Amino acid sequence: MSVQTEIKSITVTELRRMKAAAERIACLTAYDASFARVLDEAGVDVILVGDSLGMVIQGHDTTVPVTMDDMVYHTRCVAGACRRALLIADMPFMSYATPEQALRNAARLMQEGGASMVKLESTNMQVETVAQMTAQGIPVCAHLGLRPQSVHKLGGYKVQGRDEQAAKAMLDMALALERAGADLLLLECVPAELGEEITKNIEVPVIGIGAGAACDGQILVLQDTLGISHNEPPRFSKNFLQGENDIPAAIKAYITEVRQGSFPAPEHSF
Ligand code: KIV
Repeated sequence: MSVQTEIKSITVTELRRMKAAAERIACLTAYDASFARVLDEAGVDVILVGDSLGMVIQGHDTTVPVTMDDMVYHTRCVAGACRRALLIADMPFMSYATPEQALRNAARLMQEGGASMVKLESTNMQVETVAQMTAQGIPVCAHLGLRPQSVHKLGGYKVQGRDEQAAKAMLDMALALERAGADLLLLECVPAELGEEITKNIEVPVIGIGAGAACDGQILVLQDTLGISHNEPPRFSKNFLQGENDIPAAIKAYITEVRQGSFPAPEHSF
């Protein structure tokens, strides 16, 4: 007789519990079933099918060329391998320009791709969109700080929220997105003090990437953690394969360092 091991999967409620209990949330990107299985079995809490696949899988210089069909395809590849981790899929460039488009495309990522949450790069324009999505039962992760889909408008991949006015505007936007019903916030490339201020002032869990150690959790692009980045690795990343024998051990080392709060260290922060 075979005994089926019961695996409790991560939900939005569990992420809120982890924030309240000060248990750090370990997140990584994945784009295919083999890596997703390794991450899930190692104990990664959240797997993001990021539109970073445009750079690390497709070899583009930006995430702008990524399409909805690309996102649905890779989300479906990953979904079958996720038993415990919460699966988030990125909404690609211009797939949420209006609330109607956002609702239609989020439904594709959930129904065809199997995602449990969608992520969108957010400005004040997205507050109403997020309100409509969450009112329809779509869990949303709002991405603030550096928004790579706007790289051509921002003039490069630069740290955001450095001056007092920009920092206040970002905190206000985080609060507005929380009121709109966002379930998770992702903060990319902001000064560590701003990461801490936003994390302390909102109830929604905050996941950082280059946002300092005080966030409720951390995320990295998988290829950066394995030292196989397409370009020069960003300052906020770390090669966890160094000193480990194989990929599962590297992923476990990442999870341990995130949980203990030893990653990111000051040299990974701004
Ligand atoms: O697309 C992506 O991988 C992201 C990162 C912030 C993890 O959004």
